[in-house]
Amino acid sequence: MTEIDRTVAREVQRRRTFAIISHPDAGKTTLTEKLLLFGGCIEVAGSVRGRKSQRAATSDWLELEKQRGISVSSTVLTFEYDGFRVNLLDTPGHHDFSEDTYRTLTAADCAVMVIDLAKGIEAQTEKLFKVCALRKIPVITFVNKVDRPGRQPLEILEEIEEKFGIEVSPRNWPIGFGQSFRGLIDMPTQQASLFDVRDGSQRVQARVVDLDQLDGENIPPAALTQSLEEVELLAEAGEAFDRERFLAGDQSPVFFGSALTNWGVELFLRGFLELSPKPIGRPSNVGPVPPERPDFAGYVFKIQANLDPRHRDRVAFLRVCAGKFEREMEVLHPRTGKRIRLKRAHRVFGQDRETMDEAFPGDIIGLVNPGEFHLGDTICIGDPVMYEGLPQFSPEFFATLRCPDTSRRKQFERGLQQLLEEGAIQVFTDSGAARKEPILAAVGELQLDVVRFRLESEYNTSTEIRWLPYKVARWVDAGDGDINDVRLTSRSRMVRDQYDNPVALFPSDWEAGYTQSENPDVQFSEVRLDT
Ligand code: G4P
Repeated sequence: MTEIDRTVAREVQRRRTFAIISHPDAGKTTLTEKLLLFGGCIEVAGSVRGRKSQRAATSDWLELEKQRGISVSSTVLTFEYDGFRVNLLDTPGHHDFSEDTYRTLTAADCAVMVIDLAKGIEAQTEKLFKVCALRKIPVITFVNKVDRPGRQPLEILEEIEEKFGIEVSPRNWPIGFGQSFRGLIDMPTQQASLFDVRDGSQRVQARVVDLDQLDGENIPPAALTQSLEEVELLAEAGEAFDRERFLAGDQSPVFFGSALTNWGVELFLRGFLELSPKPIGRPSNVGPVPPERPDFAGYVFKIQANLDPRHRDRVAFLRVCAGKFEREMEVLHPRTGKRIRLKRAHRVFGQDRETMDEAFPGDIIGLVNPGEFHLGDTICIGDPVMYEGLPQFSPEFFATLRCPDTSRRKQFERGLQQLLEEGAIQVFTDSGAARKEPILAAVGELQLDVVRFRLESEYNTSTEIRWLPYKVARWVDAGDGDINDVRLTSRSRMVRDQYDNPVALFPSDWEAGYTQSENPDVQFSEVRLDT
């Protein structure tokens, strides 16, 4: 039986590590900011945005962020609330950076899906939800912007159930929406929380009222009647919350609110802390490793260069999965078999760094200049363990890059290699092609722009890009058959990924589907799970 460390077990119990998934504009930044406000990290809402613009102004690599008006880098935000330590993995919302977002999701124990009441489920939400479903990450839903005219709340529930094939279990229900929005009814206690003050920059306190006293409140009668009828209907016919189904990713508890006005944010935070799971044992080559064991283990889920131009270095973000991490600890790097002393471990909060003396499962550590760590690498003490590899997703943009200046070719190759290790891009090779240029690929077009930008600014090499006519990649498993017998269309092509796995590139989804039907015994997968 594995030994349990009492300190580690206590810390695990109070850790909550999650990520927010949403489509751009649904309100992820606003919700994050309000959670930090309740977590006591910031005094007045608005400062996170301030930090964002400051960052863009002071950083040259993030010049690109400024030009495009998006957030490229993702970090972790940590706060304490009600005895819990909450780690919020901040993921960029922009479509083009979704590959990074996908990997960050692997470091989360739970995801919060933010949906705009007016817009419902949008494309990016759908993609990210699929990743959660694939990894069986439990998802809590926050339906945002209830203060704005939107769809009927019941419609949103139906849409989630239909599109995602999961059950939904509302934990609270809005009293009116749009102009009529006045508060929320808590489903388990059947009590209403009413909000009177519209000041999104402060911690808005709710007034708790019994349902039979709502008549005397300033609520538009039609809104109140509808809300009470729906609550009754849901209490009779709705799905009861089922913890096991939630943890298995089969049911999503749903909260409503308005991040902008703060209405419902604290109720959501409390509900989230009550429902979300603590870190659990993660799968490895020796089975699930209990987080409460004394020996430290974790894995690298993200490598980022030049977060800040004042520190021209690379940071490997490591998710602690088991045991206690201590500064100056000597760890084993099982992939190379080397022992390494972890000197420069940091907590990274936005652009700021703070030395980290200890960390527990669920925490994220930034290791500065990690040298030989690659994405997905495990580091540990005690008996070697290796956590499951990171998934690789089908890119949507394919190109070849050339360095026209032959005297800079070496720097070009070195830069490209480093960017590959960071996981900024994927690379494929076609051994049959006349020109053995690597094919670079990314989930978003902008990722390739970033690679070119960085090759120019960090390695001083100009590049020429040639776009290739592919849109879809599928990892091919021919089982007992021969990979050379797989029948492809004339516009498709078989290549190898960086781990030498066969991959078919297609110009369209349709062609990928057609090829699958022509080769029924071959498996074509959108994602590769262990790399
Ligand atoms: P994102 O990170 O998911 O992309 O969304 P973000 O929080 O930046 O919010 C997108 C827009 O939606 C912002 O307006 C924000 O103020 C607004 N918003 C967020 N939550 C709510 C809500 O609960 N109710 C209402 N009515 N609006 C909300 P913006 O005009 O684009 O930006 P800003 O000028 O407010 O900064």
